[in-house]
Amino acid sequence: MNSLAVDDAQDAGAAGKGRPALPPGPRMPAAVQAWQWTRSPLPFLDSCRRRYGDAFTLRMSHSGTWVVLCDPEDVKRVFTADPVQMGVAEANAVLGPLLGRRSVMLLDEPEHLTRRKLILPPFHGRHMDSYADMMSDIARREVARWPVGEPFELWPRMQAITLEVIMRIVFGDVGHDRLNEVRTSIEQLTAWLNDPRRLAVLSVLGPRWIASDRGFRRARGRVEQAVLGEVRRRRMEGTDEVGGDIVSLLGRARYENGAPLTDKDLGDELITLLSDGPTSTSLAWAFERLLRHPEKLDRLREEVRAGEQDIYLDAVVKETLRLCPPVPVVVRRLREPEWLGGHLIPARTVVAPSVYLMHRREDVYPDAGSFLPERFVGQATGTYTWIPFGGGVRRCLAASFAMQEMKRVLRIVIGEVDLRPAGTRSEGVARSSIAFVPDRRALAVVGAA
Ligand code: HEM
Repeated sequence: MNSLAVDDAQDAGAAGKGRPALPPGPRMPAAVQAWQWTRSPLPFLDSCRRRYGDAFTLRMSHSGTWVVLCDPEDVKRVFTADPVQMGVAEANAVLGPLLGRRSVMLLDEPEHLTRRKLILPPFHGRHMDSYADMMSDIARREVARWPVGEPFELWPRMQAITLEVIMRIVFGDVGHDRLNEVRTSIEQLTAWLNDPRRLAVLSVLGPRWIASDRGFRRARGRVEQAVLGEVRRRRMEGTDEVGGDIVSLLGRARYENGAPLTDKDLGDELITLLSDGPTSTSLAWAFERLLRHPEKLDRLREEVRAGEQDIYLDAVVKETLRLCPPVPVVVRRLREPEWLGGHLIPARTVVAPSVYLMHRREDVYPDAGSFLPERFVGQATGTYTWIPFGGGVRRCLAASFAMQEMKRVLRIVIGEVDLRPAGTRSEGVARSSIAFVPDRRALAVVGAA
């Protein structure tokens, strides 16, 4: 098989002739494309799709060459491909400084599947039912602290809830105060990453700059210390291998040669799970959209207060993840040339199924720019057209967990307080270093009872 690399690729004229070729794409310099991608990725994706169609090439100075895809057939090919042919480790390398290179997100086969199987159980099956009350309690405690009659930002409140929930899954029920150090260090790291000033540096120097920043390294180091400190405390108490929490599961895990996971493996994996950003972002968007559509908020409130089945709630969660997907593209790197988007894409190219563009296809989702939960009432989602959690063997391993958490939190908030918008204008999309969030961070007011 020909293993022609990206830089040697023929131009789009070679398409259809069996020679490796890249689809067309913007001709502006790679530095300008990188700038656009970092500053305003969604309008950039929209304009490229309008101009070049369902497959186009971006060349970005700090992220290399990407072929963005949004045709359901192409996305299916990527998600069902042999994972050895389409790895993620190199394509996701940019996440290395944050998650660590031993994170499941940066492992390729065969190590990836072994690790994935190890951390999957707490996010599935009977475990999931046991989290329902815990999630509701955490949300209820949080809501009880909200001010009445004054505007406040919901996004940070959602971050606090989802962090508390995931700490319980990872460490078990060890008590709120014992995890203070872990909580504070993660909050500091998140604040560092979300500081809008970083975005300007990021757009010029690229994500690899993060790894070399002393402030980042210090903040990430504090998280690692706090997380491994708790693991060591559990080892000393002899409670690191007994429970159903993730520390215990990973503590019991052994490689084929009988060796336990190293502290590096453990630290990177735990930090990956604790860095759950997408759930709080999606919750913030769910509230932002509901607050701008009072009739939909009322319908949901009625369902929640009547204690009915979660039919509309489920549709609201799915529609939020469609319209405002927290991860706009997923990435794979080709080992061999592959036919996609009508081109034989050269080896070593990053192919990027775009969640955002797929979800905006008018032929799949009529009136795609509108918030219409009704489209999912009684309707199944398409495996290759509703893809907020990616797909194939790399699909988010916590997808059902995250949806359950979103529903629990929405139900508690909507059932317990009279939430109102703090203004009539819809919130725009703001980009922090790691997330796409409502630009006023989902500003809301709790009405007096
Ligand atoms: C609304 C919430 C969430 C969204 C939209 C989301 C989305 C995603 C996406 C798009 C991927 C990449 C999939 C691919 O490449 O095909 C992913 C992977 C992953 N997610 Fe999530 N995620 C969410 C919540 C979570 C939570 C709560 C956790 C765990 C605490 C989590 C852990 C992971 C892990 C470990 C992977 C890597 C899976 C692998 O490589 O095998 N995610 N997620």
